[in-house]
Amino acid sequence: MENRSQWGSRAGFLFAAMGSAIGLGNIWRFPATAYESGGGAFIIPYLFALLTAGIPLLILEYTVGHKHRGSAPKSLGRVRKGFEWIGWWQVTIAFVISTYYAVIIAWAIMYAYYSFNLSWGDDPTSFFVGDFLTLTDPGTFGGLVPKVLLPLLIVWIITLGVLSKGVRKGIEKANKIFIPTLVVLFIIIVIRAITLDGAAAGLSAFFTPDWSSIADPQVWVAAYGQIFFSLSIAFAIMITYSSYLPKKSDITNNAFITGFANSSFEILAGIGVFAAIGFMAFTYDTTVSQLAAEKGVGGVGLAFMVFPEIVSQIPGIPRIFGFLFFASLVLAGLSSLISITETYVAAVSEKFNISRGKSIMFGGGLAAVLSLLYATQGGLNLLDTVDHFINNFGVALAGLFEVVALAWFAKGLKGFQSHANEISDIRLGTWWRFCLGVITPIVLGYMMLQNLRAELS
Ligand code: PFF
Ligand code: NA
Repeated sequence: MENRSQWGSRAGFLFAAMGSAIGLGNIWRFPATAYESGGGAFIIPYLFALLTAGIPLLILEYTVGHKHRGSAPKSLGRVRKGFEWIGWWQVTIAFVISTYYAVIIAWAIMYAYYSFNLSWGDDPTSFFVGDFLTLTDPGTFGGLVPKVLLPLLIVWIITLGVLSKGVRKGIEKANKIFIPTLVVLFIIIVIRAITLDGAAAGLSAFFTPDWSSIADPQVWVAAYGQIFFSLSIAFAIMITYSSYLPKKSDITNNAFITGFANSSFEILAGIGVFAAIGFMAFTYDTTVSQLAAEKGVGGVGLAFMVFPEIVSQIPGIPRIFGFLFFASLVLAGLSSLISITETYVAAVSEKFNISRGKSIMFGGGLAAVLSLLYATQGGLNLLDTVDHFINNFGVALAGLFEVVALAWFAKGLKGFQSHANEISDIRLGTWWRFCLGVITPIVLGYMMLQNLRAELS
């Protein structure tokens, strides 16, 4: 315990935490969710969710990791013996997510490459589902090996390579490069997008508030769901990362910085994505809402079907825009993949008393092999199904177990509160315990019931 790895600097930790938080959820999940949940009016439930659940839970996870100095199962087990399984639940979810996250990043690598000659042709949708996903190289093993194999291999080599260098020389160093680069690339994309014809219509579709949406409970559920996913909460990550913080660390302040940085990036992505969609509507001489209804504005469809279409139509040098967009997906994705993989690498190595290297080999190796399942013809369907269950049940339950256990079944939140208050100049008070002990459990419980009901109907 004494020679536990540590971050080299506060900035190093912050970049790593932001690297985990800023991911595909910011680029393709937030814009669509906000658009479908009241546009500009979504800012109210969204900020409410950020301040009453997102940042308070982030502070709690940072505190648990910092105080107990272990991976998620170990730290939670040190709070109380019976809590270790909650950590393993979260670690298992992280493991499953990593298997398909890696494949999406591999697709993005392929598409960054395709951008240079606009390989998707005139019909990117059928290129993606038809050619690309079934693309095999006839020369190898009778055409059984998908072309995405090489980029997938690259993704795992980078991820496991970074992890094998350790916390400071690996994770910290990689994020210190990835995140500033990502921000620069993304700002260039957004500037280009808002200067396209039709951008204003896209932005107005995105920002125009539908105030009636605030009365809709589903919109509130969507806001909390977005915040949890986007801040990588209840995935065992933030506990693991904060366990590498030095003793003297301003936990509360770090949580606010992570939360606001993630949200800023998210809103920036909303602007970029909708400016680009506005341009597409302009090109097709249609409206943004019509286009959104026809094509969808989020997820795999946005990235690999809608965006290629937009890229092809951009005047001037479309190739650079496409390359920057897919390169951003790769950087945002890799820094998140590194973080989820670290959770089980750390947990397994601590639990079974084996070296990091062995844990990377077994845990990471197994995930890499399993990720091949999604690189097959049925891959996209499998990915959708797994993603659906993980997001609707796995994560909401993990968050619910965690917050209820820590708030109600440990020695209460006061101990964590005073631990966080030892260093920080932002004082946690009753408001913090109320958010975690009352608001968050109610919201997560309600969210579970809603998701269950939707599943059964
Ligand atoms: N927080 C990341 C995002 O917003 O894209 C997503 C994410 C990363 C979720 C890592 C889960 C995870 F384990
Ligand atoms: Na995020």
